[in-house]
Amino acid sequence: MKYNFDAVIDRMGTGSIKHDLKWEIFQNREVLPMWVADMDFETPDFIRQAVAKRALHPVYGYTFRDEEYYQSIISWMSRRHSWHVERDWIVFSPGVVPALNMVVLALTSPGDKVIVQPPVYFPFFTAVKDHERELVYNELLCVNNRYLINFELLEQQAKDARLLILSNPHNPVGRCWTRDELSRLGDICLQNNMMVLSDEIHGDLVLPPNKHQVFANISEALSGITITAHAPSKTFNLAGLSTSSLIIRDEEIRKKVKSVVQKLHLEMGNIFGNEATKAAFQQGDAWLDQLLVYLNENIRLTQSFLADQLPDLKVFVPEATYMIWLDFAAFGLDDKSLREKMIHEAGLGLSPGIDFGPGGSLKMRLNVACPRSVLLNALQKLVLTFHQVG
Ligand SMILES: Cc1ncc(COP(=O)(O)O)c(C=O)c1O
Repeated sequence: MKYNFDAVIDRMGTGSIKHDLKWEIFQNREVLPMWVADMDFETPDFIRQAVAKRALHPVYGYTFRDEEYYQSIISWMSRRHSWHVERDWIVFSPGVVPALNMVVLALTSPGDKVIVQPPVYFPFFTAVKDHERELVYNELLCVNNRYLINFELLEQQAKDARLLILSNPHNPVGRCWTRDELSRLGDICLQNNMMVLSDEIHGDLVLPPNKHQVFANISEALSGITITAHAPSKTFNLAGLSTSSLIIRDEEIRKKVKSVVQKLHLEMGNIFGNEATKAAFQQGDAWLDQLLVYLNENIRLTQSFLADQLPDLKVFVPEATYMIWLDFAAFGLDDKSLREKMIHEAGLGLSPGIDFGPGGSLKMRLNVACPRSVLLNALQKLVLTFHQVG
């Protein structure tokens, strides 16, 4: 079956943060939203049917996740990532961001140091700071237009830190960390007794020929200090169903994390998330393979269009995710005027780089998970506006 990623779907009036909150976010109702990591494609038929089937039953009472739900995750991890996961390792969380917060609460104490690698997905910062833990920036290095981990700095910082929150693959710079990079990082963590929370929500969205490396699956030793966050929500665009998992092999760590989930009474989840997860992980391979081809083409199109029409704009071509990190440093603007220009002159709603912490200044994150006609329209707007500035 050939899936259609070209259909333009009107999402206005559906309670969509991306489409219905333009005024609140950008103070402009006409902006074309290319920001939050949410795709504008149709949810595949097999997921819609699974949700619709459950919705047709007239009672929506308290529910639990059945064995089939867990087996769907186990089988997906085995098929797509060659990772053997056991049923007991899987802990439910209503979302990955809540999970990050719960892991920080469960495994660290106020005042403990937690390392993050900016520019990075900004809820990593609040997951640390909001609970009075100390945020430590292991800022990525940008060498020859490629982001790399600053291992030398990490070796120093790891000496007295409890936890590292890893974005694997990395949002927003789009790096799919290699096995070598992750092993080196893992060695530092093991030597310093530091646990790793590996956020792999984008792990299914790695663009061939790159390959996702599950951090916990590098070695037995690393699987003993790692908490992996995973969900069908980015891969299949199901964020509105609030269903995700923490996968934890070590029993002691798992007990601590589970106890926070239980204390907050967040175990229940929702019936539609359960059905959608099963359908996605049982039937989603072909759809995902086609999605990755479409996303890759959108990324190539963006790269060549901008190289040709706006050569002063630096484009970091992602190895994973559908976000493209753009560097506007050559345009002589400051962050405030860059944002204003983007919203009110180009009519585009991108994510400002400064939100992603150190290293984000004069950058913007562009979401290209949209029909090609929408992307072309956005690229034309971008070129028209910034052509005059360069
Ligand atoms: C790295 C990363 N983690 C987590 C999330 C969001 O997770 P959730 O919606 O399950 O809370 C995102 C969304 O963009 C993300 O990029």
